[in-house]
Amino acid sequence: MSKIKFLSSRAGYDLAAENYDKKEKYLNSFEQGKTVPLFEDVNGKKILDVGAGTGRLAVELAKKGAIVTALDVSEQMLKILQRKNKKIITALGGAESMPFADEEFDLVAAEFLIVHLKNPKRFFDEAYRVLKNRGRLLITNINQKDPPEINTKDGKIKIESFYHRPDRIIEILELLAFKIEKEIFIKESGVWINQIIVARK
Ligand SMILES: C[S@@+](CC[C@H](N)C(=O)[O-])C[C@H]1O[C@@H](n2cnc3c(N)ncnc32)[C@H](O)[C@@H]1O
Repeated sequence: MSKIKFLSSRAGYDLAAENYDKKEKYLNSFEQGKTVPLFEDVNGKKILDVGAGTGRLAVELAKKGAIVTALDVSEQMLKILQRKNKKIITALGGAESMPFADEEFDLVAAEFLIVHLKNPKRFFDEAYRVLKNRGRLLITNINQKDPPEINTKDGKIKIESFYHRPDRIIEILELLAFKIEKEIFIKESGVWINQIIVARK
């Protein structure tokens, strides 16, 4: 039996990119349609999608007329995104130190990202910096204590992940002066599987 390799996000998602879109239905099931209505009136708005991956969210936002920038550490994930929509601006880089000016965006979104961040405060700090005054941050926080096994052409891998308690995430955001506007829990058999937060600068 081959050993499972534990990889960083960049190395892991570069390998997982090829098959990532096959998981779309599964990923959507953690949102149960609850995130889409949070993106009304985005026409003409500057949106940064952090950990954008292959563009599950970014492509939808671009369809709604938003000016979308997609940031990700994985070049292979971004390559797939670029094939789907040439208008989306892509940037290779990390959430903890973003290559953007202060107060550049109306909205920063990050779906299924913070599960990969050891210290989400560093990302939230950066999100606050790049948001315009009264801009919104939308994040999702999945309840995942053990990362799933992923089959790749190089064998089975697991990608570095971190569990974050929902109350701790709210606490950090409030410490940074974000105002929590919405907190939605998606549940399965009575247990939360995803925390969706909208916060305003
Ligand atoms: C589970 S995927 C989510 C992709 C997309 N947001 C979605 O909902 O389908 C996580 C993405 O975050 C990226 N990522 C992980 N750590 C990152 C970091 N520190 N900075 C930027 N992107 C990161 C990965 O490369 C991957 O594309």
